[in-house]
Amino acid sequence: SVVHAADQLILAGQLLDVQNGELKRNQAILVQDQRIVEILPVRQLSTEQRAIPTLDLSGYTVLPGLIDMHVHLTSNPQQHGFRRLNSTPARQAIFGVTAAEVTLQAGFTTVRNVGAAGFADVDLRNAIDEGEIQGPRMRVAGHSICITGGHCDNNLLPHTYAATGFGVANSPDEVRTRVRENMKYGANLIKFTATGGVLSRNTDVNASQFSLAEMQALVAEAHDRGARVAAHAHGLHGMKRAIEAGVDSIEHASFLNDEILAMAAERGTYLVMDIYVSDYILSEGEAAGILPESLAKERQVGQLQRENFRRAVAAGVNMAYGTDAGVYTHGQNARQFGYMVEWGMTPLQAIQSATLHAATLLNWRNEQGQLNVGLLEPGAYADLVAVEGNPLQNIRLLEAIPVVVKGGKQVN
Ligand code: ARG
Repeated sequence: SVVHAADQLILAGQLLDVQNGELKRNQAILVQDQRIVEILPVRQLSTEQRAIPTLDLSGYTVLPGLIDMHVHLTSNPQQHGFRRLNSTPARQAIFGVTAAEVTLQAGFTTVRNVGAAGFADVDLRNAIDEGEIQGPRMRVAGHSICITGGHCDNNLLPHTYAATGFGVANSPDEVRTRVRENMKYGANLIKFTATGGVLSRNTDVNASQFSLAEMQALVAEAHDRGARVAAHAHGLHGMKRAIEAGVDSIEHASFLNDEILAMAAERGTYLVMDIYVSDYILSEGEAAGILPESLAKERQVGQLQRENFRRAVAAGVNMAYGTDAGVYTHGQNARQFGYMVEWGMTPLQAIQSATLHAATLLNWRNEQGQLNVGLLEPGAYADLVAVEGNPLQNIRLLEAIPVVVKGGKQVN
């Protein structure tokens, strides 16, 4: 048998296989250059392998590092509404340094950042990759793309100020330009808004944004460049149009119905439903500057979204874990697990949504075409978390993770 060179050894008391929910006892993970090279039972380790620098997690249950598919690391949850006007992309990037660190410490070793102003997310990702600051592996969208007056536009000031969001586009050609621009400046994926939003001023969560032709142009352009597409959508018609246009995921999906579920099932579209954040918006939102009209919209969205989450789970469509951290406190990304179990998932399904299924939607692969993250297998990064006890019995163990490992090294 092949003997792999390894620079790290991690011992796991129990190892959760997220593909089938099996817990395997006493496993050894061999790591070389941040990636897993082999997993074998501890008793099969050679004398040489036992001498490799070791992280002993034999008292823990080990699972893949968690993935949050909907975050805004550059957003300050204390600065909603008009307070947003008082910061620049540079200021937001500086805020993001701390947000990235607490997110990683919470066990989220990968995040998909779905929109940031002035490419602050690209800079944050690069600073993490270059080892300047600590944070999760980031896949970033750059500028969120929307119509004039849409969810990503700046709708807070009157016409005299001529304030416009970075990603505004109003025709198939302009949409293509925005996609190309995002890719030029370092985005890994494309995010656009297919309906109004809760937190944007003067937008209607039920109203569609972009025509089908615009959405099709956006998806074609993104897919041509190998980028996946995430569509923000609360309302039915925008959701339907986005799925028809071929997006890879629907974010929020609040008002879904059976037709949407059937379409998503047929096309394999993922739903990323942020069912925790409503609690923050309705309890702390006013003090954080959220506008009264947004609070009113949230009261129409939050509860229905949870009920529809239950329907989506029952329908068996693809679902990935996304929280909208940034709207609420960074580092509390795991709070949504308990809600997902309360609203119909098994603990294993909830964990899969934040590991294997998230990674499959992310589609981030190594040179051999294997997933980089989301599972513990040779070829993947040695990103993992360890908890005392069994998260399949108590999902809320993930809210306070004692050991976080990124690239084979403990980071907390
Ligand atoms: N960013 C989203 C929006 O403004 C947040 C929605 C939060 N509410 C919810 N129930 N998921 O539309």
